[in-house]
Amino acid sequence: MKHGDFNEEPASSVNWQVFRELTPYLWEYRGRVFLSLLFLVAAKGAILVIPFLLKYLVDSLDISKGADIAAAGLVALVVAFGLARFSSVLFGELRDTIFGRVTERAMRRIGLQVFRHIHALDLDFHLNRQTGGLARDIERGVTGISFLMRFFVFNIAPTIFEITMVVGILLWNYGLNYALVTLAAVTAYGVFSVRATEWRTQFVREANEADSSSNTRAIDSLMNFETVKYFTNEEFEARRYDHELEKWEVARRKNRLSVFTLNGGQALIIAVAQTTMIGMAAFQVRGGVISIGDFVLINQFMIQLFMPLGFLGFIYREIKGSMANIERMFDLLAVKTQIEDKPGAPDLQVERGSIQFDNVSFGYRPDRQILKGVSFEVPPGQKVAVVGASGAGKSTLVKLLFRFYDASGGAVRIDGQDVRDVTQHSLRAAIGIVPQDTVLFNDTIFENVRYGRPEAGDDEVWEAIRLAHLENFIGRLPSGGDTVVGERGLKLSGGEKQRVAIARALLKQPPILVFDEATSSLDSKSERAILAAIREIATGHTSLVIAHRLSTVVDADSIVVLDQGEVVEQGRHAELLAHDGRYAELWQIQQAEGQAPALESLTMALADPGTGGTA
Ligand SMILES: Nc1ncnc2c1ncn2[C@@H]1O[C@H](COP(=O)(O)OP(=O)(O)OP(=O)(O)O)[C@@H](O)[C@H]1O
Ligand SMILES: [Mg+2]
Repeated sequence: MKHGDFNEEPASSVNWQVFRELTPYLWEYRGRVFLSLLFLVAAKGAILVIPFLLKYLVDSLDISKGADIAAAGLVALVVAFGLARFSSVLFGELRDTIFGRVTERAMRRIGLQVFRHIHALDLDFHLNRQTGGLARDIERGVTGISFLMRFFVFNIAPTIFEITMVVGILLWNYGLNYALVTLAAVTAYGVFSVRATEWRTQFVREANEADSSSNTRAIDSLMNFETVKYFTNEEFEARRYDHELEKWEVARRKNRLSVFTLNGGQALIIAVAQTTMIGMAAFQVRGGVISIGDFVLINQFMIQLFMPLGFLGFIYREIKGSMANIERMFDLLAVKTQIEDKPGAPDLQVERGSIQFDNVSFGYRPDRQILKGVSFEVPPGQKVAVVGASGAGKSTLVKLLFRFYDASGGAVRIDGQDVRDVTQHSLRAAIGIVPQDTVLFNDTIFENVRYGRPEAGDDEVWEAIRLAHLENFIGRLPSGGDTVVGERGLKLSGGEKQRVAIARALLKQPPILVFDEATSSLDSKSERAILAAIREIATGHTSLVIAHRLSTVVDADSIVVLDQGEVVEQGRHAELLAHDGRYAELWQIQQAEGQAPALESLTMALADPGTGGTA
């Protein structure tokens, strides 16, 4: 399945495949499952005994038949009745308690599986995802799973067993008629329930979709809180949200009406059957064919039969509902990533850390080529800069290096190994990056830096903080390094975030470093300080530096000028100036603008579609 299919209408029939997926979880706790099944049988046994006890009680009290039971016998019957009642409930509770562990473990496993799976999906999926709706789909899916497991084990088979027993007992003791009525009722009930449930599944699905999309709206709107305020669009947002809520309301209403139809029909079938049987029994008692005790027994069996039958209808309905809930989660699990490790791919072996872009072509969409045959090399231990206008494809080069996407032509190699031939894990572990837009976790500054290498000790983290010139800033904060940065790091300034990103990359200590506009949000003074630090650290490392501001890369071993996805010039700063081409032109413009770098970054920000926030 491809990404695009994810939002399409899922298959309509019951997906029995789901049950197969559940089996391993049940097997893992087979002891518990078995024990709870024992309790289930015990509970059912106790329930089946009750009508007989009632019958004996009634018959032993029926003085017209010359009954004459001893007090002790009566007490024994009454106590047995009480015990049977209590144990049927007790065993049921024990069954649930013991089984709870099984479902919880399964929920945990599946939750984790989905989480891992989503993380394994490629960037393209994540750029297209709708976080709010996705979260809801998963939530419903996991709850649906636990529901299915419980009912799979406890209700379907046992209820069928119970119905068979009751029909058997009626047939054995009271002849064909009762059994026939019972069978007819059960059949009618079953057929009606299945039909009606199939019919109403569409409404469940509609309600789910409306629920997910209204949640998507809400989350997206809240994530863009600032933008909403800047443009005073609260009313607009509320209207859009309400529009989604309205769809949800309509879907729920249809859903509710369909439940009414279903339950009403089921109740009618049960009522007709019960009335018929009571009528039959009453006339038989009157004719002296059966005793009053038998009448009570038949009545009691009917109650006990139709209760689980009603339950079975409820279960079927819920199973269908759960299926509808789960199917979106399973659709999600079926989404394949476009970027996969080749079978048996080896780890990347970095010796000296050279990077080679060899005639690389790439487009995010087939109808728009972004890179057109880009070739250049970053020799081991050297620093190569890529410069060029906004949208030229600079950050795209980085995405290909990290293998977030695969090139459509040519190859990206590290020490001669094609990035497509090695494991993604080893590839990414070998590269440290300071990205163009740094997004932080809603955690402390200190922990955000440690994220570069989670097992790093406090000393190492402080060292990285010092090297990234974060120390002064942290010193000024009332809570220091323990300051929480807010969702996506919004409580930090752009420059502060960038320094956290630099500290992170430094802590990771990879052989290859990539800086994508690493200092673009810094003022000239901090920039100079950090550039010095970067230079210090980058010595001995292979580094790829992307920059708008040419002044930051004059010392590079080589500068690649990228224009509309093509390398137009390459050389050292002095060579390129002497060449008097594109680079020289850019240099002159920037020298003239030199006094107003803030204005420059503003125009860049406005022109850059990438910084708009993909959430
Ligand atoms: N996920 C995507 N899907 C489709 N198009 C994309 C995607 N990401 C980037 N692009 C497009 O690819 C082009 C190159 O983007 P890229 O981010 O590489 O530019 P850049 O050179 O880094 O620009 P800047 O200097 O502004 O950061 C842009 O025109 C952009 O709109
Ligand atoms: Mg970029």
